[in-house]
Amino acid sequence: MAQGTKPIFGGPLTSVIIPAAGSGTRLGLDQPKAFVDLGGSTILERCVDGVLDADINAEVVVVVPADLVEHAAALVPSAVVVPGGAHRSESVRAGIAVSGNTDIVLVHDAARPFTPPRVFRAVVDAVLAGHRAVVPGLPVADTLKRVDASGRVLDTVDREPLRAIQTPQGFTRDALIAAHADDSGLATDDAGLAERIGIDVHVVAGDPLAFKITTPWDLRIARDLVQEVAR
Ligand code: CTP
Ligand code: MG
Repeated sequence: MAQGTKPIFGGPLTSVIIPAAGSGTRLGLDQPKAFVDLGGSTILERCVDGVLDADINAEVVVVVPADLVEHAAALVPSAVVVPGGAHRSESVRAGIAVSGNTDIVLVHDAARPFTPPRVFRAVVDAVLAGHRAVVPGLPVADTLKRVDASGRVLDTVDREPLRAIQTPQGFTRDALIAAHADDSGLATDDAGLAERIGIDVHVVAGDPLAFKITTPWDLRIARDLVQEVAR
């Protein structure tokens, strides 16, 4: 297990990798997204608190921009903090590299600080039940259409079998390592890498509160929510 973590006895130890090394281009602020204030704490601090609140017996590994490692370590002293890479998947691999030899590894975007404890537990439980890769997903509410480059609608997609996928995504350690050994840079999530090498990915119920803060609109919602959600 990595130095600085605080194991709780009584269950299998899980590693939670939190990629937080992105720049937050779409948010458009002058600091990386994970370090943006959300009602008096950073998004990163709220995210780590959320993992600890989930009570899943986890060591937490946080991956941040190289010049912010010390700053982040002071913000989240219960976590191991390491520098990330240019792409999300590289940051995830940096986290995997320093994580302990746990059987279960969760990968959870820093940008989803309101993710309820129930979602973490559902993902861990599904991995424990035998699924090698597990993702939270939500039904899609909007009508979906495929559109060509000129803006012409090609067709309307049946949304019934579609799910919008969130994090935490959970894996057996061997599955996650195998998935990341074959990264050609196109998958937007870790489960996508697993799918490409033939690993079955299982969906559990996600939660609207696990939404990702991506745009200024999302941050506005988050700042309203932080007044309401007890933490
Ligand atoms: N991430 C990371 N390393 C990267 C890129 C992204 O650790 N090189 C992390 C982000 O910090 C975030 C998560 O992956 O917690 C999801 O990525 P996203 O929401 O796209 O965040 P950013 O890449 O920071 O935002 P943008 O794409 O708008 O620049
Ligand atoms: Mg990004």
